[in-house]
Amino acid sequence: MRAKLIAANWKMNGSFALIDEMLKALSPLLEKTSCDVVILPPDVFLFSLKKAIEGTRIEVGAQNVHSETSGAFTGETSAPLLQACGAQWCIVGHSERRMLFSETDEFIRGKTETLLRHGIRPILCIGETLEQRESGNHEEVVVAQLGKGLSGLAADDQLRCVVAYEPIWAIGTGKTATPEQANSMHRIIRKELESLASSEVADKMQILYGGSVNAENADTLLSQSEIDGALVGGASLKTDAFPQIVAAGN
Ligand code: PGA
Repeated sequence: MRAKLIAANWKMNGSFALIDEMLKALSPLLEKTSCDVVILPPDVFLFSLKKAIEGTRIEVGAQNVHSETSGAFTGETSAPLLQACGAQWCIVGHSERRMLFSETDEFIRGKTETLLRHGIRPILCIGETLEQRESGNHEEVVVAQLGKGLSGLAADDQLRCVVAYEPIWAIGTGKTATPEQANSMHRIIRKELESLASSEVADKMQILYGGSVNAENADTLLSQSEIDGALVGGASLKTDAFPQIVAAGN
């Protein structure tokens, strides 16, 4: 049985006040729920969040990393630097980074490998554009991204990764994939994991859904057999909505 994981991607938002308010809103719930919670704030809040969650079940992570471990890369953050701030997780391959910052599958793979070498668990995002879905290429696109992201890694490393299926047309648009569309893509991803990794990896890896998850649709999405959690953007900044999504993961 895979545990549910609810991850909050704050993107380029948040504040010191939100850290306090969100932890206050989550704390009564954490004793009652068994699902794992990860908050991924902008890097500048990592260390403060790490201190604030001490003694709770919440974990923290970053939204991006460079594939190199140090050097003249002005403005970038390396895995050892994230580790020094307490990051346990890091998103890689988010569609906003792929599209707005032209990140390639090769660069993303480099980031994943660096994170794994530094004990940080990657959340690998994959997903198709609306055009790709409408032309019927969505399965092929997602399977290719998955393969480039994970094939050839050591089994132990693969087991440290989480996949987030995020159809690009559903991110920040209020248009969620139907539970059936999401579940069916998750099934395809899991089947592919069997051939590119092993049946153990396919069975154990958490596959999250992301794209306009909110307090209203979380229950239905999270009750699908293949959906092991959610990567939440907009609603993860709301102190009323996010705890409800966490509760739905129970
Ligand atoms: P959204 O973002 O929940 O605002 O659609 C999800 C994501 O980009 O991870």
